[in-house]
Amino acid sequence: MPRGSGLRKTLAARFDDELKFFKGWIDKPKAVGSIVPTSSVTAKRMASVINTRSGLPVLEVGPGTGVITKAILAHGVKPEDLYTVEYSADFVQHLRRLYPGVNVIEGDAFDLDNTLGDKKDLIFDSVVSGVPLLNFPVTSRVAYLEGLLKRIPAGRPVIQLTYGPKSPIPPGLGNYTVEHFDFIIRNIPPTQLWVYRRAKH
Ligand SMILES: C[S@@+](CC[C@H](N)C(=O)[O-])C[C@H]1O[C@@H](n2cnc3c(N)ncnc32)[C@H](O)[C@@H]1O
Repeated sequence: MPRGSGLRKTLAARFDDELKFFKGWIDKPKAVGSIVPTSSVTAKRMASVINTRSGLPVLEVGPGTGVITKAILAHGVKPEDLYTVEYSADFVQHLRRLYPGVNVIEGDAFDLDNTLGDKKDLIFDSVVSGVPLLNFPVTSRVAYLEGLLKRIPAGRPVIQLTYGPKSPIPPGLGNYTVEHFDFIIRNIPPTQLWVYRRAKH
C-alpha cells in the first residue's frame, strides 16, 4: 500500500475519533468534560499502574472513544479481561466496533452495582477512570471512589485524570489515601493524574 494512502487512513481515523468526541461534548458537555480525547502519553501513563500478572481483570470507567482502552490493551491486558463502563450510547457503539473482545458495558459509573449487573461481585486489579469528576459534587465524587475501591484489593490503585490543580477527591473524607501520580504537559489541556488506594492494615 502506498505510504501516502496509509497516512491518509491514519489521519482520517484520528480525526474521526476527535470529531466523535467533540460531538459527544456538544451533546453532553458535563458528562464528556473535555473537547478532545486524552493524549496517548497520558493514556500510557495511566495504563502503567496495571499489574498484568495479578490474574485479575481491569476496570476502565468513562472510556469515551477508547484512547485509554487502547493503551490498557497495549500494556498487556487481554481484551476479555478488560471491563469498560461508558454512559454514552454513541461511544459504547463505537467501542464495541473498535474493540470487539472487550466487555463494554453501557451505564452509569456512579451506580456500579446496577451497571455491572451479574458482574457486580468481580474483583479487579485496578481501576482507570476518565470520568470528569469536577462536574459532580464532592459527596458524589467520594461515593464514586468508595464504589471503585470496594472492587479492588487493598493497596491497589484507582487512577484518575483531572484538569484542576488539586485532587478532585479531597483527602480526609473517607477510607482512602490520595497520591499525586504525575503532571502531563503533553495533553490538551495539561492534565494531573491522581492515585487513590485503600490503606493496607
Ligand atoms: C473526559 S471524557 C474521557 C474519555 C476518554 N477516557 C479520554 O480520556 O479521552 C469522559 C467520559 O466519561 C463518560 N462518563 C461521564 N459520566 C459518566 C458516568 N456517570 N458513567 C459512565 N461514563 C461516564 C463520558 O461519556 C465520556 O466518555
